[in-house]
Parts: sequence; structure tokens; C-alpha cells
Amino acid sequence: MQIKYFGKRSTNFLTLTQLSALTTLGSDILYARQLLEAGEVVAVPTETVYGLAANAYDKAAVSKLFHIKQRPSFDPLIVHAGSFEQIQDFVHAPPAPAWALARHFWPGPLTLLLEKKALIPDLVTSGLPRVAVRIPQHGMTLQLLRQLPFPLAAPSANPFGYISPTTPQHVQAQLGHQIPYILAGGPCTVGLESTIVGFEAGQAVIYRLGGTSVEVIEQVIGPVRVASTVGSPPSAPGALKSHYAPSKPFFLGAMPDLLARYTQQQVGLLAFDQHYPEVAPHHQVLLSTTSSLEEAAQNLFAALRTLDALPVDCILGTPVPNQGLGQAINDRLQRAASRWVMD
Ligand code: TXA
Ligand code: MG
Repeated sequence: MQIKYFGKRSTNFLTLTQLSALTTLGSDILYARQLLEAGEVVAVPTETVYGLAANAYDKAAVSKLFHIKQRPSFDPLIVHAGSFEQIQDFVHAPPAPAWALARHFWPGPLTLLLEKKALIPDLVTSGLPRVAVRIPQHGMTLQLLRQLPFPLAAPSANPFGYISPTTPQHVQAQLGHQIPYILAGGPCTVGLESTIVGFEAGQAVIYRLGGTSVEVIEQVIGPVRVASTVGSPPSAPGALKSHYAPSKPFFLGAMPDLLARYTQQQVGLLAFDQHYPEVAPHHQVLLSTTSSLEEAAQNLFAALRTLDALPVDCILGTPVPNQGLGQAINDRLQRAASRWVMD
């Protein structure tokens, strides 16, 4: 018998033999620390998604990380630290609104772009003068970070371009044959990557929507500009950069229109808070039965993975209300979609 895991690339299909050789999942913080101190790459939990971590000060460890993730070297990494003191070792004094955000939201799902010191290798920032930094909100990883003499560079623990992992099992299914250990800390409580904020002439700019909503950021520092366009269909279908994407075709639009259009195909539905009688219940995944955007965010990536593994030809999805975390959910849905269907 062959067990198949569906990933974007055919190399992600694992046989039973490969599965038995998979990395151990465990909660041994000391072991994770020893591996990281030896220059290894270890998966770690955060409140947003699982990260693939390496010593941010060690070029060789960071190169290994880029290789495992199949990530192009022009795409920089987020550096995770356990305290403000540690961050001051590797960044120059941040602008005032950055401090305000850091004090308010850390530990938490917010990443700040700050001027780096030479201690951070250029490899981590892809040669950029700013480094992305955050203190994550997860007990095990905070404990690990506070024991380590260096911060951890960590992208999401998925092969480049695929859906981010929100459980240790997601990491194991795709990268388990390439890393020595997965620090298992349960399912991620936020479920969306961190919001990325930079500063241009002292003004905050959101570069990526995520687990900290625009509204709560504005409550702390006033109006901010969002650099990416969200909540609207792209001007040219197919122009979207494919990211966070399942391997099956994924169509996004108003559900009744999609259901009318894809009648000839076996479809899987990604629905927000209601079932659709046109499709068998076991081919539908609901993001939240209580219409909660927080719950929908928590479930989003696991739902896409579940649908990707079903015996269906394509996945149909619909945007959620575009407020609070809904803006970030819709941003991910748009990036995951092969096509935005409009009438
Ligand atoms: O929640 C998160 O942010 C998760 C967890 C593991 O912390 N990490 C994560 O990392 O989502 P990653 O590598 O999948 O996404 C990081 C994003 C990339 O789009 C990258 O281009 C951007 O952050 N980024 C990193 N450093 C940057 C920099 N110096 N300037 C501009 N963008 C940067
Ligand atoms: Mg990622």
C-alpha cells in the first residue's frame, strides 16, 4: 500500500517506507536547543504558523534553511527573538511608532521591519538594510528563544509557495524527511502569518496583512497605509502571484455563481459559515459555524489542505466579510486562488 500526501510538487508524495523514516515530533525544548546550537534546522511552533528555524547569526545554518524550503535567496526571512533586550543586539534604535507597536503587540502576530546591525548576515535579509523581527506568542518557543544565545531566522515551515502549516503533522507530511526534529506545540491559535509593518519617513506601512488586524494597529498609532491591495478582485485574472496555494485548481468568487459554472466537475467547497445543499457534505469544509473570523483564520490553512487531499477536481471558495482578520483571510484566499471568477 502506498500512502500519498498531496503537495504542490510530485516529490512531496511519500511512500510508507519514507513515512517510517520521518522526523520525531516532540516537546523536548533542550533537544531542540542542542540541535539549533549545532547549526541544525528545527521546526518550531508559533501562534501564527509553524516556522522552520535556524540560528540567525550563522550563515551556514541559514543557507541550509533556504535549501530545505526551496526558497529563492531574494526572499528574506523573519528573525524571532525572546526579548526586547535581545533585539537591541541586532537592530538600530527603531522609530517611535515601532516602539509603540512592539510594546502593545509583542509577544504576538506582528513583524516590524527595522534597520539591521552587521550581526545579521545579509543572507537573512536578502541584502536589504532592514531586518524583519518579531517576538512570537508561544510558550514553548519563547522558552527556547530565551535559552538560546542567538535569535532564530524562521520562515513558515512549508515548501516555498505551498500552504503554511498550522499543526506539527502538516510540517511532518511535507518536510519531515529533511529535518531532524519538530518541536510540537499543538495547533496554532491564530492560524495566519504575522502582519508585517515597516516605516517610511516615520510613517507606518503595512506590507503584509496578517494575524494583527489593521483596525487594532490603527487604535495604537493612528491611520496606516496598506501597501498591498486587498478586498478587491485583481485587475487581470491570473495576474495574482501564486502563494499559499493548494495543488488543485482553486476558484474564488460568489458561491452560487461558482456552483452554476462548475457543474461538470467534482468540487470541494471552502465555505465560511454555511453549507451548500448542491454539494455532498463530506466535500465541504466550513471555516466557522459561529461566523467568527478568528475561528475562520485558525481553520483556514488546515481546511485548504483537507480539500486539496479530497478526490475532487477543483476547490471553490468564497471571500469572508472584509473586516478585522477577514481582510487577511481574503488576502490569503486571493493569493491561493488560480482564478477569481466574476460575472
Ligand atoms: O507569522 C509569521 O510571520 C511566520 C512565523 C513562522 O513567524 N513566518 C512567516 O515567514 O510567515 P515567511 O518567510 O513565510 O514570510 C515572511 C515574509 C516574506 O514575504 C518576506 O518577503 C517578508 O516577510 N520579509 C522578510 N524580511 C523582510 C525585509 N527585510 N523586508 C521586506 N520584507 C521582508
Ligand atoms: Mg510563508
